[in-house]
Amino acid sequence: MTSKKNIYRYNVKLRPINLKRDMSKMLKWYSNKKVLYYSEGHTTPYNEKIITKMYNSITKDGHQKVIEKMHDSITKNGHMYIIEILSGNKWLSIGDASFTRTSTPITIGIPEYWGKGIGSQALRLLMKKAKHYHWKELKVSGIATYNKRSLRMYKNAGFKVTNKNKKEVKMILRL
Ligand SMILES: CC(C)(COP(=O)(O)OP(=O)(O)OC[C@H]1O[C@@H](n2cnc3c(N)ncnc32)[C@H](O)[C@@H]1OP(=O)(O)O)[C@@H](O)C(=O)NCCC(=O)NCCS
Repeated sequence: MTSKKNIYRYNVKLRPINLKRDMSKMLKWYSNKKVLYYSEGHTTPYNEKIITKMYNSITKDGHQKVIEKMHDSITKNGHMYIIEILSGNKWLSIGDASFTRTSTPITIGIPEYWGKGIGSQALRLLMKKAKHYHWKELKVSGIATYNKRSLRMYKNAGFKVTNKNKKEVKMILRL
């Protein structure tokens, strides 16, 4: 576990995802068996089709007609970002973070950057964005019970457990 002293040594930001530009990085992140084990609960690498599907499920709404009538920020399923950290004088993309009506997934795709406070900072930034869009709550679903780091990150940010079984935990945060 990382000492608290080091916890905010990284400058972290979220930028909107650009699927075309970010695809090659995401394919790398979602081919890493360690990353997959914690983020997806399996170790089968993702291909371009699956990543596009994931992106669409977060950023698009199925009810096209409703979208056309209402404002983007209300009708969108959610928002998806790329996590960047300042490395020297360059911003480095290291993972993705999103929020939808049912979940608030965060994946740092390079295990070397785990446990350094980056996920916790990314979550704080997501909470800010959700508030900006007037969301009243954030939910988390399907955190594997073995994913202690993730559970701690959400609990530290104020998320409360709503459901728990042997396999997974669900949480909610009132904003
Ligand atoms: C889950 C994830 C986003 C967390 O981000 P992170 O930057 O690694 O986590 P942080 O450094 O912010 O640490 C979060 C908390 O976990 C603790 N922690 C760190 N490593 C830990 C470990 N090996 N075991 C238990 N707790 C750990 C930290 O100390 C911190 O708690 P604290 O502030 O009370 O000390 C990141 O590890 C990740 O992307 N993992 C792979 C994908 C994944 O699991 N996604 C979540 C799916 S639900």
